[in-house]
Amino acid sequence: MKYSKSTAIAPANIAFIKYWGKKDEVIRLPLNASISMNLSNCLTTTTVEFSKSNKTDTFALLDGKNIVNDNKETEKVIKHLDRIRKIAKLDLSAKVVSKNNFPKGAGIASSASGFAALTVAASSAAGLSLSEKELSILARIGSGSACRSIPDGFVEWRAGEKSEDSFAYSLYPNTHWDLRDLILLVQNTGKKIGSTKGMENAFSSPFMEPRLQGINNKITKVAAALQRKNIQQFGNLIEEETVNMHAVMMTQNPPLFYWSGETIEIIKEVVMWRAEGLDVYFTIDAGPNVHLFFEAKDEEEVLRKIKSFNRELKYILNKPGEGVKLTDKHLF
Ligand code: PMV
Repeated sequence: MKYSKSTAIAPANIAFIKYWGKKDEVIRLPLNASISMNLSNCLTTTTVEFSKSNKTDTFALLDGKNIVNDNKETEKVIKHLDRIRKIAKLDLSAKVVSKNNFPKGAGIASSASGFAALTVAASSAAGLSLSEKELSILARIGSGSACRSIPDGFVEWRAGEKSEDSFAYSLYPNTHWDLRDLILLVQNTGKKIGSTKGMENAFSSPFMEPRLQGINNKITKVAAALQRKNIQQFGNLIEEETVNMHAVMMTQNPPLFYWSGETIEIIKEVVMWRAEGLDVYFTIDAGPNVHLFFEAKDEEEVLRKIKSFNRELKYILNKPGEGVKLTDKHLF
């Protein structure tokens, strides 16, 4: 068996119907299904090589010219390599090098793109040839939402009752609808509680049970709005869902307040622009950044509005992205 050096590029993704809470913490089985879109411009590239000349597993994250060594992250990477080595019956250490095209500290979670890229690069380097479904399941065990960064475009993650049926698949390719996601990078103040830790206490919120009761209905409605490319139906649903998830977060014990003052200022602006006839809608994950959704035809107008709101505000503009891909442009 030949073990080759392999490199994968994976997109981050943003959820329209969110994943918040697990029924199994170890294998990351979610309480509910979720729907997301891959981001064309938030990418992780990862190269993996298994070789006898590696004494131990090593993981380096390149950040510009610097190498960031994060022990906690390295531990998670090694655990994931172990899962892949077990499937491949492989007993070699790996060198792993990874790079994000978005800056560290921009508040964009790199775990989805990171674990999707690692899963695909490492399984290919280990000589495995896994199906999209198998890759999605493996990526999920590494980091829940990473399973949605494997398939192309607009994606649904089936909740499933056991590991083998909790995976993501493409609802529509990235070319289906020319949407934009403008991520507004809001300054992060306060201590960051990550999603893994945060969602452990979801049921301490009195709003968690009612959230779950309504969620399958919302999944059906968002999928239908995507199919029809109806921006108003789609936009109203994603906003309602974001506020619903954050209401759960804010009423957990201990409470999680991910929004900052600027997050709320932006929400109010967006509501005002809409009253003036511009179809722009927001969604927010476990942090203060605001993702603005609108159709390609409104891009210029939304950018003009943002600049007149705050000229200093940094942003990343995304289109619907493809799924994970192998490439021969290795990082070492
Ligand atoms: O997979 P994680 O642990 O990064 O959790 C993601 C949680 C949210 O971003 C808040 C929602 C989602 O579905 O992406």
